[in-house]
Amino acid sequence: MFSRRVPAELSPNRIALARERAEVAFDLTAANPTACGIPYPERLLDALADPRGLAYRPDPRGLASAREAVAAECARLGAAVAADHVVLAASTSEAYAFLFKLLCEPGEAVLVPTPSYPLFEHLARVEGVGALPFRLDPAGAWRLDLHELERAPESVRAVVVVHPNNPTGSFVHPDDRAALDALCARRGWALIADEVFLDYPLAGGPGSGESFAASDAGALTFSLGGLSKSVGLPQLKLAWIVARGPAALLAPALARLEFVADAFLSVATPVQLALPALLREGAAVRAAIRRRCEVNLAAARAELAAHPAVALAPPGGGWSAVLRYPAVVGEEELAVELLERDGVAVHPGFFFDFPQDGILVLSLLPSPDLFAEGLRRVLRRIGSHVGAA
Ligand SMILES: Cc1ncc(COP(=O)(O)O)c(C=O)c1O
Repeated sequence: MFSRRVPAELSPNRIALARERAEVAFDLTAANPTACGIPYPERLLDALADPRGLAYRPDPRGLASAREAVAAECARLGAAVAADHVVLAASTSEAYAFLFKLLCEPGEAVLVPTPSYPLFEHLARVEGVGALPFRLDPAGAWRLDLHELERAPESVRAVVVVHPNNPTGSFVHPDDRAALDALCARRGWALIADEVFLDYPLAGGPGSGESFAASDAGALTFSLGGLSKSVGLPQLKLAWIVARGPAALLAPALARLEFVADAFLSVATPVQLALPALLREGAAVRAAIRRRCEVNLAAARAELAAHPAVALAPPGGGWSAVLRYPAVVGEEELAVELLERDGVAVHPGFFFDFPQDGILVLSLLPSPDLFAEGLRRVLRRIGSHVGAA
């Protein structure tokens, strides 16, 4: 198992300190869709005022009407899902917390992909669970290394995949998916498929992916999604877990998941009542976010054509672009310099645990003018180092 993550209390603080002092005019780390000038329909939140929200009649898995709306959402993505197999949570992060409680005893572990979303380690740790990284192949379209997974210790209870992955944008390859399902079934592991970006395939990428909820699973499988990404509303705090798998595993897992959810009842009634309307009207937001990502990605492709030393890793989906540059300057030094001298914020690759130096991660969400100028400054700064090397 491989990791080059810099301890949180060490190096990233240099970037955090520089960021506090810098005037950041070009924030290419912006991941909050509500702060990036994405247009939202004016009446999108009207359904939150549904007077039925005055009554409190909680259902630990979530109100039936909300779970049915999630099932309809799954159908849109090609997956036939029963509303009874859906459990709501306040966020995908909380969904992970529920699943780690469900699947692991303290001291046991889950396998998490690397490079990927850095929060897994923290989410697992606060549940007393270990997060053991497994490598996605940087030279092979970020395919899984199933041999490495085979060697995982006995303490493992589940594998997390992110489909498409943040920030590499890679979907789990269909062959890896079948092999992973078989491996999980054989080892008695659960499979957690984080599909929060599944709605955002990017044109010109290696292709889109099918939801894990769309195929039969030999292993107990949980697909995760939520309003945070699929409708660009992280502040509404509603996400979902869709469970699948052999009946002998599925029924007891759902009963225990209900027990966990019942201890919290964390999803507010108004947002549950509003969910069908939010998912319906939110299609416009999703389309606007997707357009924004496409426009910025096209601009990045055009700009990079004039900078052959810097390459864009082809993203399949999601809200990020990964740049590889000649590592004549370290990621941390470059990120600090960009903040202090250019007013540009970027994420260094080590933030996501990329295995090699010379990676920057840019959000595709910022407004196109800001993105284009920020990227030009990044490329000028890299060019100044490459020229001096
Ligand atoms: C892969 C992935 N999963 C989950 C989340 C968190 O989503 P939520 O706001 O629903 O907790 C993020 C947020 O960026 C993410 O990148």
